[in-house]
Amino acid sequence: MRAYDIIKKKRDGGELSDGEIRAFVEGYVRGEVADHQASAFCMAVWFRGMSDAETTALTLAIRDSGERLDCSGIDGIRVDKHSTGGVGDKTSLVVAPIVASLGVKVAKMSGRGLGHTGGTVDKLEAIPGFCTMLDKQTFERIVSEVGIAIVGQSAELAPADKKLYALRDVTATVDSMPLIASSIMGKKLAADDDCIVLDVKTGSGAFMKSVDESRELARLMVEIGKRAGKKMLALITDMDRPLGRTIGNTVEVVEAIETLQGKGPEDLTALCVALATNMLYLSGKGSMDECERLVRESIASGEALRVLARMVEAQGGDADVIAHPERLARAPFARTVVAPRSGYITRVNTEDYGTAALLLGAGRKAMEDTIDPTAGIVLAVKTGDYVRAGEPIATLYASDESLFDAAERTLLAATEIEDTAPQARPLIFERVE
Ligand code: URA
Repeated sequence: MRAYDIIKKKRDGGELSDGEIRAFVEGYVRGEVADHQASAFCMAVWFRGMSDAETTALTLAIRDSGERLDCSGIDGIRVDKHSTGGVGDKTSLVVAPIVASLGVKVAKMSGRGLGHTGGTVDKLEAIPGFCTMLDKQTFERIVSEVGIAIVGQSAELAPADKKLYALRDVTATVDSMPLIASSIMGKKLAADDDCIVLDVKTGSGAFMKSVDESRELARLMVEIGKRAGKKMLALITDMDRPLGRTIGNTVEVVEAIETLQGKGPEDLTALCVALATNMLYLSGKGSMDECERLVRESIASGEALRVLARMVEAQGGDADVIAHPERLARAPFARTVVAPRSGYITRVNTEDYGTAALLLGAGRKAMEDTIDPTAGIVLAVKTGDYVRAGEPIATLYASDESLFDAAERTLLAATEIEDTAPQARPLIFERVE
């Protein structure tokens, strides 16, 4: 079947066979299917959706589009955590060292930020010298010796997703359930983990805005993973407000370190404890209560922080900044954004908060853009807090003062202040097993 016929079949609401999906993806990776055809395919999927069988076929075709990681040289259970993307989400920097400190290996491939969402690789690169591209032997050695290594996705792993994601980003087709599920699970299945905990975000800063959609996405990904022989579970967590108080790269690394020192913000700490607990539980470390106790002990004893420092050192970074985060380079300019009126912060458009950070230089509009690690936002208030007119809402950081006006306008327009306090939203909505 020609690419044209496959696009037309999906456009008209037909169900594609495994063979058709695989042929399309393979053709795209080989360059026989053009970008404009793949864009049309994504848009047809965006409108028509996919059955579970089609989504599974797309996931497996993405998985098989490149190399598959073989971690058989690493002893012990390997666990991963993957978020569907959020604003201020630095949980990987916290949970991965916690879990590794408790004897479960984390051989993690992370992404870069794109659009309004941040990425773990960009955050780690805010640490001087930290290398996110390691050859396979070095990666395996560090995981074996330290218990953890975090690298960027290699070009050889799931190349179909790399190409498709870049297209989706510029054709308004990111927020499609089958496309998100196959993108994430295609990459996860190409990596060689035993257990995967998914953090499926919901709310204004997430790709899935409603809990119902997020639940469906979680169910779909958990099922695909289980069918492929992985131990899976998902938490549906709030992204209707940024996580913690920082958005950016250096500022988020500092907040992650503070969280591992037991001094992190309440929401970030609670979510990291929940994710790490579930990762340990899935790895067979005991009951949920036992795993939570281990997680809290690892933070309290400083062991998780020591593991983070060891990983930074092993990956060529300046480990001294883990003990002295004040040594990280800071932006030369800062601007305080103040509340235009008194009242409660009733709602923030979290996606626009992410965009404000991007406008300051913390994110990239296109894949090839470089980012400014020092740019970002530190929030003074969060949803539910009371603020008086003229008091700070946030501090913006940038290397160029001309970037402040647009970011400030975006942040203020995204912040609703009213007379009555909003209803509290849960941090964790559901656990999908
Ligand atoms: N993260 C991914 O890796 N893919 C998506 O499609 C969305 C978030």
